[in-house]
Amino acid sequence: MKKYAIILAAGKGTRMHSSLPKVLHKVIGKPMISRVLAAVDGASVEEKYIVIGHGAEQVKEVVGDEGHLVIQEKQLGTGHAVLTALEAMEMDVDDPEQSLVLVTCGDTPLLRAESLNEMMDQHTVQGSVATVMTTVVDAPTGYGRILRDGDKIRGIVEQKDATAQEQAICEINVGTYCFNLDFLLSEIHHLTTDNAQGEFYLTDLLKIAYDKNLQTSGYQLENADESLGVNNRVQLARAEKLLRARVNEAWMMEGVTMLDPSSISIENEVVLEPDVVLESNIYLSGHTVIKTGAVIEAGSRIKNSTIEHDAHIKQAVITDSYVGAYTTIGPFAQLRPGTALGEHVKVGNFVEVKNSNIADESKVSHHTYIGDTDMGARVNVGCGTITCNYDGKNKFRTVIGDDVFIGSNTNLIAPIEIGDETVIGAGSTLSKNVVKQALAFTRPPLVVKEHWKK
Ligand code: UD1
Ligand code: CA
Repeated sequence: MKKYAIILAAGKGTRMHSSLPKVLHKVIGKPMISRVLAAVDGASVEEKYIVIGHGAEQVKEVVGDEGHLVIQEKQLGTGHAVLTALEAMEMDVDDPEQSLVLVTCGDTPLLRAESLNEMMDQHTVQGSVATVMTTVVDAPTGYGRILRDGDKIRGIVEQKDATAQEQAICEINVGTYCFNLDFLLSEIHHLTTDNAQGEFYLTDLLKIAYDKNLQTSGYQLENADESLGVNNRVQLARAEKLLRARVNEAWMMEGVTMLDPSSISIENEVVLEPDVVLESNIYLSGHTVIKTGAVIEAGSRIKNSTIEHDAHIKQAVITDSYVGAYTTIGPFAQLRPGTALGEHVKVGNFVEVKNSNIADESKVSHHTYIGDTDMGARVNVGCGTITCNYDGKNKFRTVIGDDVFIGSNTNLIAPIEIGDETVIGAGSTLSKNVVKQALAFTRPPLVVKEHWKK
């Protein structure tokens, strides 16, 4: 069996009230359409056809070459969207009798690959020509309702076309289907716009199949949450919340402690080790790795960074950086891209470090900017120190040896090298290198004018 997928994403998403196409809105840092495509990939589908229309250029930029892009110029309904994809597909198909088509929507970010697989397996086992994914909900308003004949599906009726009796049905159409390709190709042309919305309804294919005595079936999701379709920002927030719960519960089962999981957002690529502690209001994104024993306090954002074991992040923003074991950061600190800290380093409050290396046991405790710097081990940087790395045009490096003591409120004007074991007096502004083991300071004389006030 060859498997194809058609992903419907041409709609406008009017209810989002957004300049961004609906399917590009993010759930845990990733566009909804990308989450759907990932689930479809997990269902071992060979070829993906993504139907786009509204905001096609923007969607194209995000999904790129993840599938064949098919433009649906006018959104005439889900049936028309699938027809448009089939027209683009036909030339690539060699054996329709041996092919399945998975159809799903770009706005159901919580669907799991496992469910798609199970639906397709069931479809094959039951010898169906059309299978619809369903679920039972308390509030079915707005969804297509499932009309059953035992295990068979005799049709799907849209909210606007449903009788009062049909509206009472709580089993709904999720918007995901599996079809035999030959069935689709022969029957899709029989769809009409004879309905309340004047659209070509894909859902009518179930009735068409049933009326022809072909096998139809429903694959019912146990957990209705998975089927959540996002049409507005309230549902977007709900999707975010549900996905956080799913992701975070999995991490907790792996040994991660979370004080308030509902406030913690963890992207897919992040790796956490057992005995990591995450407090609350934490965003972990990109290729971030946090190793065992590390504690991340409330209000931290960490992106594309490695936090070594037993490090302690007391509220910080950390991007593209490496934090060594037993090192403490913050509170209120920022590590900008290209920062690498050794073990037992201390970066204290109101400290910013950028594109710099700081070796083991060095301390930068307060109100300091370290940029484009290579700092040795066991250095003590006094409060208010600034590496002046930028002359308005170019950036220069500061090199600081081992065991240096830098007094408070020092300016190091780069390029500059400070030798091992030097002592820099407080309040200095240095623009020349200092040899090792020296004492260096610049200090204007103290001026005291007595009786000045009078
Ligand atoms: C559809 C189903 C309904 C189901 C619901 C689940 C039909 C007729 N109805 O209704 O039974 O309960 O989904 O969410 O299919 N799209 C296109 N081109 C179009 C029209 C739609 O690409 O011409 C895309 C949309 O971008 C969206 C998806 O198809 O991703 C569903 O369309 P939407 O208008 O949201 O359908 P519903 O009315 O919600
Ligand atoms: Ca919808």
